[in-house]
Amino acid sequence: SGPDTVSPTGQPTGADQARMAQSGSYLTSAQGTRLYDTDHSLKAGPRGPVLLQDHHLREKITHFDHERIPERVVHARGAGAHGVFRSYGTAADVTKAAFLAEDVETPVFVRFSTVLGSRGSADTVRDTRGFATKFYTSEGVFDLVGNNIPVFFIQDAIKFPDVIHAGKPHPDREIPQAQSAHDTFWDFVTLHTEATHHTLWNMSDRGIPRSFRTMEGFGVHTFRMVDAAGGTTLVKFHWKPKLGVHSLVWEEAQLINGMDPDFHRRDLADAIEAGAYPEWEFGIQTFPDTPDQTFEGIDLLDPTNIVPEELAPVQPIGLLTLDRNPSNFFAETEQVAFHPGHLVPGIDITDDPLLAGRLFSYLDTQITRLAGPNFAQIPINRPHAPVNDMTRDGFHQTAVHRGVAPYRPNSLDGGCPFTAGADTGAYIEAPVRVPEATKVREAPETFEDHFSQPRRFWLSMSPVEREHIIGAYSFELAKCYEQAIRERALQVLANIDPELCAGVAAGLGLPAPEPTVPLADVEPSPALSQVGRTWPTD
Ligand code: HEM
Repeated sequence: SGPDTVSPTGQPTGADQARMAQSGSYLTSAQGTRLYDTDHSLKAGPRGPVLLQDHHLREKITHFDHERIPERVVHARGAGAHGVFRSYGTAADVTKAAFLAEDVETPVFVRFSTVLGSRGSADTVRDTRGFATKFYTSEGVFDLVGNNIPVFFIQDAIKFPDVIHAGKPHPDREIPQAQSAHDTFWDFVTLHTEATHHTLWNMSDRGIPRSFRTMEGFGVHTFRMVDAAGGTTLVKFHWKPKLGVHSLVWEEAQLINGMDPDFHRRDLADAIEAGAYPEWEFGIQTFPDTPDQTFEGIDLLDPTNIVPEELAPVQPIGLLTLDRNPSNFFAETEQVAFHPGHLVPGIDITDDPLLAGRLFSYLDTQITRLAGPNFAQIPINRPHAPVNDMTRDGFHQTAVHRGVAPYRPNSLDGGCPFTAGADTGAYIEAPVRVPEATKVREAPETFEDHFSQPRRFWLSMSPVEREHIIGAYSFELAKCYEQAIRERALQVLANIDPELCAGVAAGLGLPAPEPTVPLADVEPSPALSQVGRTWPTD
């Protein structure tokens, strides 16, 4: 008993489709009445005045007046593409997810984005990139809402409004438009040293990708997979571009920003149109689901941590191919609504406190952005699995729901009895034990080390990558008006590495401070460098 307008593939049907296509041999009003002229207002004589009774004029202009919807509060600028995901079946021993069984093809929609800029900002700014994938699986929608950087600025979602307020343009002058070269950004990341790792990735070449097609993607958080017998495994998700990982150099990025602010968007669309379909291998790192949820001393619930690929290799589990451009940017790329809580049987969340806040935030913001609770009915958001929920009414309801009893069990509508149980193929949360605990507002001790992972990243860079990082910090910090922020930033860098700190200090014409914490004793991870990468291996 699903809505009338949904076909089994989630596409609009019949009259709905014709209406959306705006086709036909003559123009009509929004009510379908044939028009004889849409270029002149109705007037009392050719020289006016214009008559208020001209409904066509008012209908046309009123609709135009309401064409804009709010842009996303973050990740406002993006580009999307349709594609297909084919699974290898290699994850079937750790997850019962149907779309990860051998040789299953699943339609997908991917949206790439920058984080800080507004909808009309430039593409090749120094920023994190979003990499959000909607899998329209046979068991419902699975969204992997990730980034091209595997760690995040903060460890607890309660600080998300703060970090974004710091990163967005200054409230007085509304500058800068789209990047992190300003006082409030650097004030935040130097006062909150858990941001050090993400900031270092931003200042590396990863902050200025050459193309969406040459970016890695990461789920960032640790997720939990559940197999058919109920066994659980902790995983981190990875996207590995078949074209390899490539960045722009800073000077290129600056020139392109001026000459073609749509560079990444154009590159993606042109490549797909030319048949050069971009491909990524989907991969997982797996970790035993131990009660402490750590691996080799790394806290898997801390989203400022990676697990080096040398310690836990990325295992390929499928191939993503983007092969079709959207036909309407607004309908698809703008109206798509991702959510980290859109999960399918076999994939579950962990207790990462950043993920917990995301589970609340996306639905909440989309109710504003897409004007009400019914945006799952917009074609791009429709599951390609039957929908039989008990929601009713609300703004922009397009379904004509049948029956009188939207509750279960009922004795009036008959059919569709609600059956619970593990053998029904329903989504069941993994029965994870919650340890006995006292209610507190505090972080675990394991979240306190903010420098050893950044140090590993720095030590893994090739000489040219290090040169670029020093150049990036020097440029960005030079844009700050406050000297105290520059000095605090140098202190953070001294706690990562003396060579990095000395290089940036020289760039800023300031003395390099001594570290205030012992330098971490960590091994480099060669897989982090873009030079001499060993993956993909084929
Ligand atoms: C949007 C990734 C953390 C709130 C997005 C998008 C991506 C993303 C890729 C764009 C989705 C699209 O293309 O439509 C991430 C990642 C995070 C993270 C990887 C950390 C690991 C957070 C946190 C919050 C948050 C902690 C809030 C507590 C939002 C909101 C949007 C958004 C409100 C706009 C959604 C919309 O309007 O449709 N995020 N995000 N994000 N994110 Fe996050």
